[in-house]
Amino acid sequence: KKCTAVVLAAGQGTRMGTSVQKQYLELEGKPLICYALKTFETSSVIDDVVLVVGTGQEAYVREQIIEPYQFAKVTAIVEGGRERYDSVYEGLKAAVRDEKGQVRDGYVFIHDGARPFVDEEMLHRQYEAVGTYRACVAGMPSKDTVKLIDDDNYAVKTPKRKYVWTVQTPQVFENSLIMDAYSKMMREDCEGITDDAMAVERYMDVPVKLVEGSYRNIKITTPEDLAVARTFVNGKI
Ligand code: CTP
Ligand code: MG
Repeated sequence: KKCTAVVLAAGQGTRMGTSVQKQYLELEGKPLICYALKTFETSSVIDDVVLVVGTGQEAYVREQIIEPYQFAKVTAIVEGGRERYDSVYEGLKAAVRDEKGQVRDGYVFIHDGARPFVDEEMLHRQYEAVGTYRACVAGMPSKDTVKLIDDDNYAVKTPKRKYVWTVQTPQVFENSLIMDAYSKMMREDCEGITDDAMAVERYMDVPVKLVEGSYRNIKITTPEDLAVARTFVNGKI
């Protein structure tokens, strides 16, 4: 079945604190967003890519990213929105609809452009899983013990560590399932939605399967993540 990646690059990067948005910062000679795009470009799983960018950034991205690096699988560049879920919804509309505006059969791989280290093996694991489960997200067991706290920072609960995973992207869904979930969510309530699986958990009756991602598949969020990313690119770990 056809697999489309929706790559998100419409965020402001507030926590990074740089004037250039983090997805366009240079990482060992290339803009950060190029790493994930390259993995999708060369993947045997992914057929095409919808890139979601900030308002007014389409020309910049075409000239500075798509053309020089020859990302031929990028078939659409769309403008995102205020929150991550707004950007995902814009990307989904471009990704899953055919010429008649109907939702096509196929799968969508929603990915943070700020995660440069998505890899081909992970995409294969997810392709296998989504065929069986209809909804799956990359994640890894938490290395830290996780505490739920109250508003005054008192620990209230410590979930058993074997039940705690931190989730990553790609988050992968049947086209119709994720479109139904997002359409309902956008009509009803987006409050507190921080990943795509939550839309399915909240609005659809389909359990979301966790699939092994990798401990390298970090999201570049704050400056120290960039130092780790440089180490990974240089092959030092
Ligand atoms: N993203 C997006 N549109 C938004 C918000 C986020 O496309 N309105 C994208 C980001 O570009 C990033 C991914 O979603 O690739 C994950 O979001 P996050 O790490 O939170 O990035 P930012 O929102 O840019 O950073 P911050 O929250 O620190 O401002
Ligand atoms: Mg954000």
